[in-house]
Amino acid sequence: MKEKNGALCGVVLAAGAGSRLGYPNELGGKPMVMAAGRPLVDHALAKLAAAGLSDVALVVNPSNRPIIEAHVADGRAFGLHITYVVQQEPLGIAHALGLCEDFAAGRHVLLLLVDNLFQADIRAAVAAYAARAEQGASQAEIFLVRVPNPEDYGVAVLAGEQISALVEKPPSFISDLAVIGLYLYPPTAFGLIRELAPSARGELEITDLNSLFLQAGLLSYQKLYGWWLDVGTEERLAQAERLLAE
Ligand code: G1P
Repeated sequence: MKEKNGALCGVVLAAGAGSRLGYPNELGGKPMVMAAGRPLVDHALAKLAAAGLSDVALVVNPSNRPIIEAHVADGRAFGLHITYVVQQEPLGIAHALGLCEDFAAGRHVLLLLVDNLFQADIRAAVAAYAARAEQGASQAEIFLVRVPNPEDYGVAVLAGEQISALVEKPPSFISDLAVIGLYLYPPTAFGLIRELAPSARGELEITDLNSLFLQAGLLSYQKLYGWWLDVGTEERLAQAERLLAE
C-alpha cells in the first residue's frame, strides 16, 4: 500500500532546554514539560500523526535523549515510526533541521517545534502540500498567526497579499503576524541551510532560511485561525493549560 503523504516526512525539534520552565535537561527538558496532563512531545507527535505523517525524526540533545527515548520509544504508541537525531549543541532551529538531511533522504519535510501548541487542524494544508510535493514542487510554506506580542517571534510583513519581508524578533513594530514554529520545506532546504551564517545569538536562524526561500520567490504562507502558543514561559504554559482544557 502506498504510504499516505509518502513524499513528506516529519521533524520534531525537541532539543530545547526547559530551564525557563524550571525543567532541567536531565529530566527531559522542554519536551517533557507537562501541558494538560501530557508532555509537550506527546502533543507534537499527536499533531503530526493526525496530519497523516508516519515517518518522523525527533531531534533531541545529548542529555535529554535517554529520557525522551524511554518515553517515546519507536513511536508505535503514536502511530509513528521515530528516528532519533542528536543535536550536540544548541546551534539553532535551521541547524537542527540540517542534521535531518540523511533521514529525509530526498523527501519534503514538515518541521514542528515541540513548544508550539495550536488549535488549528492542519490536515488539509499538509495534504495539499504533500500532493504538490509528489509533483516535485519546490516551494516552502509557513504559517502565520496574529499576535499581541510580535516582538517575541519571527514576523512576516505583508505587502498586499505577498510577504515582503521576514524579520526575527523585530525591536519595533513592523507586523503583528507571527511566523509559528510549523514549516514545510522541499529537499532543497538542506543545501540552503549550508549557506546560512550564525546570527548574533550564535544560531542558524529558521527565519534566515525562510528569507532565502522568499528571495527566490519560493515561499508561500497560510494564516492559521484559532489559538497558538509558544509555551516558552510559565505564563504561556498556564495559558496553554487553560486552552487545552476547553
Ligand atoms: C523561534 C523562531 C521564531 C518563531 C518561534 C515560534 O523562536 O526563531 O521565528 O516565531 O520560534 O515559536 P525562538 O523560540 O527560537 O526564540
